[in-house]
Amino acid sequence: ARTIKLAVIPGDGIGVEVTAQANRVLDAVLAGGDVTLERTEFKLGAERFLATGDTLPEIEQAAIATHDAILFGAVGGVPGDPRLKHANIERGLLLKLRFDFDQYANVRPCTLFPGVASTLAEPGDVDFVVVREGTEGPYVGNGGRLREGTPHEVATEVSVNTAFGVERIVRYAFEMAQKRPRKQLTWVHKTNVLVHAGATWQRVVGAVSAEFPEITVDYMHVDAATIHMVQNPSRFDVIVTDNLFGDILTDLAGAIGGGIGIAASGNINPTGEFPSMFEPVHGSAPDIAGQQKADPTAAILSAAIMLDHLELPVEAERVRAAVRADLATRGDAARGTSVIGDSIINALPARAA
Ligand code: NAD
Ligand code: IPM
Ligand code: MN
Repeated sequence: ARTIKLAVIPGDGIGVEVTAQANRVLDAVLAGGDVTLERTEFKLGAERFLATGDTLPEIEQAAIATHDAILFGAVGGVPGDPRLKHANIERGLLLKLRFDFDQYANVRPCTLFPGVASTLAEPGDVDFVVVREGTEGPYVGNGGRLREGTPHEVATEVSVNTAFGVERIVRYAFEMAQKRPRKQLTWVHKTNVLVHAGATWQRVVGAVSAEFPEITVDYMHVDAATIHMVQNPSRFDVIVTDNLFGDILTDLAGAIGGGIGIAASGNINPTGEFPSMFEPVHGSAPDIAGQQKADPTAAILSAAIMLDHLELPVEAERVRAAVRADLATRGDAARGTSVIGDSIINALPARAA
């Protein structure tokens, strides 16, 4: 018997709705086995901030750190809410967890499952993974505003790229490509303009690639990558890129891979020093929150990535099989969040004897 300590942060809006379904699926897939989930729920996010003024109290962060993994919904309040003007839940909670728990590998698969309609007329066989750097780049908060409020206001947002940080994410991506049949890695940047960071990435990719002679490596500028992702997404296998480019490319990947409602991710701390965190790529979707309209599939597939990370590959695959079965028979009728959850639970293959 094994007990897994799971921290659950449902967050705001549809984050709460989709996390509930991911938890139901986890319970169903583990039922009858020898793995027990011991959950602790942390009520964090915009709603909590509005109620108490807290974003991520130290004592709660320390408590989260004692768990084996984190299941995260989404955070973010209603746009334009004046009470959130000086809050920054996204930075103060989500990015703080990614940074402090050194979740440098943000893994975002894009697979167009059979039966799922893409926004693209002829998507082809889409099955790639974006490995997005999770702790550096323009996300670090290195910047400021001078002469604020004047016509001479100056705002900077400096992208930080360390050889250490770039090397570990590039290596992670090569190792992933090595395990995949096509063994192809595309690194994406903007080396023609961002010459400093670009040169560091280029040097590191060159050095690491020498250790992986079986991997075919190519490079794309990020703007061109969006063209190829729309016109010929099946050409990609593993993509490695920085934090901001990866953010943008993975919403695009979500859209072409059957919709943002099924795009899953893991924020991995590969050393295991800290818990890794699993969350849909999408946000709190204030436009549909509270209406049971959100597709919980992204959250459920994120839970499957978590099961893999926790070395429960059989359970992960059972969840994915159930999702595939549900997706294949969806049709056009709109279904509510918990109806999709029910359908996926009903489609779970039985545990092998
Ligand atoms: P969003 O992803 O919340 O929504 C974009 C669009 O996609 C909306 O039309 C929404 O209805 C739709 N959508 C998203 N998830 C869906 C689902 N599961 N099923 C069906 N439709 C879905 O992005 P946004 O509107 O830019 O951001 C809203 C808030 O969420 C902001 O506060 C933002 O900062 C935050 N956000 C949080 C996270 C996170 O916590 N990981 C990620 C992205 C955005
Ligand atoms: C995501 C989100 C976050 C990001 C925001 C909410 C901080 O867009 O997970 O993709 O930019 O990483
Ligand atoms: Mn994003």
